[in-house]
Amino acid sequence: MAAGAPVAGSPGAGRTPLVAGNWKMYKTAAQTTATIRTLVSALAATSPAVPAGMVLVCPPFTGLPAAREALAGQDPELVLLGAQDMHWETEGAFTGEVSGAMLLDAGCRAVIIGHSERRAHFSETDASAARKVAAAIALGLLPIVCVGETRAEREAGLTAAVLARQVGRAVAGLDANAAGSLVFAYEPVWAIGTGLAASAADASAAADIIRAQLTDDSGRRARVLYGGSVKTGNVAEFMSQPAIDGVLVGGASLDGAGFAALAVAGLRARRQ
Ligand code: PGA
Repeated sequence: MAAGAPVAGSPGAGRTPLVAGNWKMYKTAAQTTATIRTLVSALAATSPAVPAGMVLVCPPFTGLPAAREALAGQDPELVLLGAQDMHWETEGAFTGEVSGAMLLDAGCRAVIIGHSERRAHFSETDASAARKVAAAIALGLLPIVCVGETRAEREAGLTAAVLARQVGRAVAGLDANAAGSLVFAYEPVWAIGTGLAASAADASAAADIIRAQLTDDSGRRARVLYGGSVKTGNVAEFMSQPAIDGVLVGGASLDGAGFAALAVAGLRARRQ
């Protein structure tokens, strides 16, 4: 499939699983090359084979060329390439920004949008995230839309309201077909990088709340990942939940062999 084509995903119960790695602000080009090579050789050696289009890695912008080169010559569906953010305009006077068109040009198939670290530290809002989502869809980039409550919001009983607001605004300008093509990542802020993952039951309930914000058909088709302290040891708990289609992994995606083991464990759990 050419860069820019949507990641394969069949509707309903056939939603394609996705194990996505978010490298955040880690790894030089040389480290990227080494990690991708290790990841690819571990995945390629797995039997039964890891199905196409189910593992995604999102390095920092500067790592994309090295990652693309390390993936050249491999099955282009074995490890997909994504980015961690984008601007909604194609080009322009936006110092420091990178556009979705540039990400496509760099070989990306997907882009993380609205991560809580961008919301907390870089003024990302529901409105800016929505503009990015619409622009990504228009380009054929798969948006992975991050939503989730803070600890204070959870303790105040606001989890469902926060998810409803974040999802509702992300899809407000989209038709049902586009909304159904989205990937959401339920990432409770208190679970990110803390070692305190949500329970599988809570993550599953959050996935139901997310889908309930979409019209029937798009809710059935949209994929929902869980993110927040996912490790090889707990990935199966999440991916065996029927409502959860995969995971978005930060810290545990930085080690190539470890991330391959995590992906294999998660995808096996999903198949059972
Ligand atoms: P973590 O990060 O796996 O290190 O908790 C997840 C994320 O921020 O996407």
